[in-house]
Amino acid sequence: MIELKNVSKYYQMGEVEVRALDDVSLRIAKGKFIAIMGSSGSGKSTLMNVLGLLDLPIEGQYLLEDIDISELADNEVSRIRNQHYGFVFQSYNLFPELTALENVALPLMYAKRPPKERREIASSLLSKVQMDHRINHFPSQLSGGEQQRVAVARALVNEPSLLLADEPTGNLSSVHEEEIMELFSSLNDEGVTIVMVTHSAAVAGYAKDLIMISDGRIVSDTPIKKRFSPVEIASAQGGFLK
Ligand SMILES: Nc1ncnc2c1ncn2[C@@H]1O[C@H](COP(=O)(O)OP(=O)(O)O)[C@@H](O)[C@H]1O
Ligand SMILES: [Mg+2]
Repeated sequence: MIELKNVSKYYQMGEVEVRALDDVSLRIAKGKFIAIMGSSGSGKSTLMNVLGLLDLPIEGQYLLEDIDISELADNEVSRIRNQHYGFVFQSYNLFPELTALENVALPLMYAKRPPKERREIASSLLSKVQMDHRINHFPSQLSGGEQQRVAVARALVNEPSLLLADEPTGNLSSVHEEEIMELFSSLNDEGVTIVMVTHSAAVAGYAKDLIMISDGRIVSDTPIKKRFSPVEIASAQGGFLK
């Protein structure tokens, strides 16, 4: 579906050039569930922004279904981003003055869908993320995990083929983290391609592939054989089995 070929991204900071991404080549096939890990400042968010077409232009090639994105007009790139990509952020990014239902329905308003249809789609997605009982709550009246479920529902509203999530559970307790990851797993089972950044081995364990990034470079790209059990994670972290 997406292929990056020798992609680099530099930021000029006064005299100094920061290589946020350094010659990255990567293929994301349809149906994948990829976790990206790496230390702080290694370029994870830059990679997500590049993948999400939020950070253009880039050096190198971005191929989407074999089309080079640099050959498309800006409005065509925006259309692809809005209609085919969904975004989830660590900080939920919900509008505080809108209810859960209104937050989820908002992208459908931009897409000029009629009000009745907007309400129907938004409420069915809120029920998919098990938030049917909270549709008229404002973000401040919801827990972190509930806010993130609303944000996931909003990301799904245009039926994206790619879901990009930058530390989606970074602010959540482990119970809420599990809920969100179970939700991601079932979306992936339904065919949604997912790329997710995380600091947590437990969270990465829900993915099918793991990409490690260091100093803007991909240092490994390996399949995850099976989901780690809590006991294995505890053991890997030097826990009670030792
Ligand atoms: N807008 C920017 N301007 C300058 N430098 C940036 C900018 N965004 C990121 N960087 C730098 O690029 C590097 C990678 O950043 P980032 O992708 O946010 O890392 P991560 O998400 O892995 O913590 C860091 O050194 C960061 O300071
Ligand atoms: Mg980051």
